[in-house]
Amino acid sequence: MADLSRSTVLVTGAGGRTGQIVYEKLKQKTDQYVAKGLVRTEESKVKIGGAEDVFVGDIRNADSIVPVIEGIDSLIILTSAVPKMKPGADVIKGERPEFYFEDGAYPEQVDWIGQKNQIDAAKAAGVKHIVLVGSMGGTNPNHPLNNLGKGNILIWKRKAEQYLADSGLPYTIIRAGGLQDKEGDVRELLVGKDDELLKTDTRSITRADVAEVCIQALRFEEAKFKAFDLASKPEGAGTPTKDFKALFSQITTRF
Ligand SMILES: NC(=O)c1ccc[n+]([C@@H]2O[C@H](COP(=O)([O-])OP(=O)(O)OC[C@H]3O[C@@H](n4cnc5c(N)ncnc54)[C@H](OP(=O)(O)O)[C@@H]3O)[C@@H](O)[C@H]2O)c1
Repeated sequence: MADLSRSTVLVTGAGGRTGQIVYEKLKQKTDQYVAKGLVRTEESKVKIGGAEDVFVGDIRNADSIVPVIEGIDSLIILTSAVPKMKPGADVIKGERPEFYFEDGAYPEQVDWIGQKNQIDAAKAAGVKHIVLVGSMGGTNPNHPLNNLGKGNILIWKRKAEQYLADSGLPYTIIRAGGLQDKEGDVRELLVGKDDELLKTDTRSITRADVAEVCIQALRFEEAKFKAFDLASKPEGAGTPTKDFKALFSQITTRF
């Protein structure tokens, strides 16, 4: 029989660095959530424990994700094109590495078509809330990240964000600052709009904190139909954020 007291949440990109944390956090809250993960490869499935609730699918192929999305209540999108470093640069000598995207795995295919496929499948399946993690920097088409591997990554990410905002589905778009692999829950979080935080000294955020905000967004109406930039004060400055309802209430921007 369906368990009506718990909500079923799928995190895609569950083998990724932030996606893994979201998946783990959801799994720890068994009283509230039935966690599911989507990964691209069997290797990623094994990497995150290989449980039956982890499904293998490619977001570029709509048919491979539709069955996974059917029956879920909420979707957390943490998939992204991943630039690869070209060998040859001597980073220790200060040489700048060059990056590339593999054929078929450019941001256009992953961050646009892949996210669009997920949003379309979620809409068709009656999913109640989509949380999408994007990136700060998208207001500037000439942002240097767009040159990375000639992928225009921020442009394609923003196109997917716009598609989600126009979908009619309840959404939360989190535009993260520079991601750090540090402890979560020990910093004061900052929300902003229109890349204004990029002009300040507080432009980064831990992956653990992004993961927590994704999950907290599922709990509060104040997080729905909102898009915002997310960063944090350094550890030790300010008061670690605990009241997420208040954090989401500060946000006034729908896109
Ligand atoms: N790095 C930063 O400083 C920064 C700053 C702001 C925002 N962000 C954004 O924040 C988000 C999380 O970043 P992260 O570094 O935690 O992510 P990540 O480790 O790069 O993970 C991305 C995940 O997407 C998966 N993926 C890629 N193509 C896929 C496909 N076709 N089908 C299914 N899954 C696919 C990858 O799987 P495979 O590993 O199997 O390919 C990977 O697990 C991303 O959107 C990122 O762009 C990053």
